[in-house]
Amino acid sequence: MIGRLNHVAIVVPDLEAASKTYATTLGAQVTAPVDLPDHGVTTVFVELPNTKIELLHPLGEGSPIAKFLENNASGGMHHVCYEVDDILAARDKLVSEGARILGDGEPKTGAHGKPVLFLHPKDFCGTLVELEQV
Ligand code: CO
Repeated sequence: MIGRLNHVAIVVPDLEAASKTYATTLGAQVTAPVDLPDHGVTTVFVELPNTKIELLHPLGEGSPIAKFLENNASGGMHHVCYEVDDILAARDKLVSEGARILGDGEPKTGAHGKPVLFLHPKDFCGTLVELEQV
Protein backbone atom coordinates (compact mmCIF):
# COMPACT_ATOMS: atom_id res chain seq x y z
CA MET A 1 0.00 0.00 0.00
CA ILE A 2 2.64 2.54 0.96
CA GLY A 3 4.93 3.79 -1.76
CA ARG A 4 7.93 6.08 -1.71
CA LEU A 5 9.30 7.84 1.36
CA ASN A 6 8.17 11.40 0.73
CA HIS A 7 10.02 13.04 3.62
CA VAL A 8 11.40 12.71 7.13
CA ALA A 9 10.42 15.61 9.41
CA ILE A 10 12.78 16.98 12.05
CA VAL A 11 11.68 19.53 14.65
CA VAL A 12 14.39 22.12 15.28
CA PRO A 13 14.77 24.85 17.92
CA ASP A 14 16.45 27.27 15.48
CA LEU A 15 15.37 27.10 11.85
CA GLU A 16 18.10 29.39 10.58
CA ALA A 17 20.83 27.40 12.32
CA ALA A 18 19.34 24.12 11.10
CA SER A 19 19.10 25.43 7.50
CA LYS A 20 22.74 26.47 7.70
CA THR A 21 23.77 23.07 9.03
CA TYR A 22 22.10 21.33 6.10
CA ALA A 23 23.17 23.89 3.48
CA THR A 24 26.74 24.48 4.59
CA THR A 25 27.94 21.61 6.76
CA LEU A 26 26.10 18.89 4.85
CA GLY A 27 26.14 20.68 1.49
CA ALA A 28 22.46 20.11 0.67
CA GLN A 29 20.00 22.25 -1.23
CA VAL A 30 17.55 23.97 1.17
CA THR A 31 14.46 26.07 0.42
CA ALA A 32 13.58 29.40 2.03
CA PRO A 33 11.39 29.13 5.16
CA VAL A 34 7.63 29.00 4.56
CA ASP A 35 5.07 29.84 7.27
CA LEU A 36 2.08 27.51 7.41
CA PRO A 37 -0.23 29.25 9.91
CA ASP A 38 -2.97 26.61 9.47
CA HIS A 39 -0.52 23.97 10.66
CA GLY A 40 1.23 26.08 13.32
CA VAL A 41 4.66 25.49 11.78
CA THR A 42 7.34 27.14 9.71
CA THR A 43 8.99 24.72 7.29
CA VAL A 44 12.23 24.49 5.36
CA PHE A 45 12.69 21.66 2.89
CA VAL A 46 16.03 20.01 2.31
CA GLU A 47 15.96 18.58 -1.20
CA LEU A 48 17.85 15.30 -1.48
CA PRO A 49 18.21 13.23 -4.66
CA ASN A 50 15.83 10.52 -3.41
CA THR A 51 13.67 12.23 -0.77
CA LYS A 52 13.25 15.38 1.33
CA ILE A 53 13.94 16.39 4.90
CA GLU A 54 11.32 18.71 6.38
CA LEU A 55 12.73 21.01 9.06
CA LEU A 56 9.89 22.17 11.32
CA HIS A 57 9.73 25.00 13.83
CA PRO A 58 6.67 26.04 15.88
CA LEU A 59 4.70 29.02 14.57
CA GLY A 60 2.29 30.98 16.79
CA GLU A 61 0.46 29.95 19.93
CA GLY A 62 -0.67 26.36 20.36
CA SER A 63 1.62 24.90 17.69
CA PRO A 64 1.18 21.11 17.54
CA ILE A 65 4.98 20.71 17.77
CA ALA A 66 5.57 23.07 20.71
CA LYS A 67 5.31 20.22 23.22
CA PHE A 68 7.70 18.08 21.20
CA LEU A 69 10.30 20.85 21.34
CA GLU A 70 9.74 21.25 25.09
CA ASN A 71 10.53 17.55 25.52
CA ASN A 72 13.38 17.56 22.99
CA ALA A 73 15.18 20.87 23.49
CA SER A 74 17.81 20.25 20.84
CA GLY A 75 15.20 19.00 18.35
CA GLY A 76 14.61 15.51 17.00
CA MET A 77 12.97 13.32 14.41
CA HIS A 78 9.23 13.96 14.42
CA HIS A 79 7.63 11.86 11.69
CA VAL A 80 8.12 9.95 8.45
CA CYS A 81 5.85 10.50 5.46
CA TYR A 82 4.97 7.71 3.04
CA GLU A 83 3.20 8.22 -0.26
CA VAL A 84 -0.08 6.49 -1.08
CA ASP A 85 -2.13 6.56 -4.29
CA ASP A 86 -5.54 6.73 -2.61
CA ILE A 87 -5.64 8.14 0.90
CA LEU A 88 -9.24 7.20 1.65
CA ALA A 89 -8.68 3.59 0.56
CA ALA A 90 -5.49 3.55 2.66
CA ARG A 91 -7.35 4.93 5.68
CA ASP A 92 -10.16 2.40 5.38
CA LYS A 93 -7.70 -0.48 5.15
CA LEU A 94 -5.74 0.80 8.16
CA VAL A 95 -8.89 1.20 10.24
CA SER A 96 -9.98 -2.33 9.27
CA GLU A 97 -6.55 -3.54 10.47
CA GLY A 98 -7.15 -1.84 13.83
CA ALA A 99 -4.79 1.11 13.32
CA ARG A 100 -5.70 4.47 14.79
CA ILE A 101 -5.90 7.64 12.69
CA LEU A 102 -5.17 10.88 14.56
CA GLY A 103 -7.75 13.68 14.69
CA ASP A 104 -11.19 13.19 13.17
CA GLY A 105 -9.95 10.65 10.64
CA GLU A 106 -10.54 12.94 7.67
CA PRO A 107 -7.59 13.93 5.44
CA LYS A 108 -6.26 17.48 5.83
CA THR A 109 -4.31 19.52 3.31
CA GLY A 110 -0.62 19.06 4.11
CA ALA A 111 2.51 21.15 3.58
CA HIS A 112 2.57 20.34 -0.15
CA GLY A 113 -1.10 21.11 -0.77
CA LYS A 114 -1.93 17.38 -0.93
CA PRO A 115 -4.27 15.36 1.34
CA VAL A 116 -2.55 13.90 4.41
CA LEU A 117 -3.38 11.80 7.46
CA PHE A 118 -1.37 11.03 10.58
CA LEU A 119 -1.30 7.57 12.20
CA HIS A 120 -0.90 6.82 15.88
CA PRO A 121 2.78 6.25 16.78
CA LYS A 122 1.90 3.40 19.16
CA ASP A 123 0.54 1.40 16.22
CA PHE A 124 3.67 1.97 14.08
CA CYS A 125 6.78 1.04 16.04
CA GLY A 126 6.77 4.23 18.11
CA THR A 127 6.98 6.48 15.06
CA LEU A 128 4.47 9.10 13.99
CA VAL A 129 3.55 8.26 10.38
CA GLU A 130 2.13 10.72 7.86
CA LEU A 131 0.46 9.44 4.72
CA GLU A 132 0.33 11.75 1.73
CA GLN A 133 -1.72 11.14 -1.40
CA VAL A 134 0.40 11.87 -4.45
CO1 CO B 1 5.30 15.95 7.07
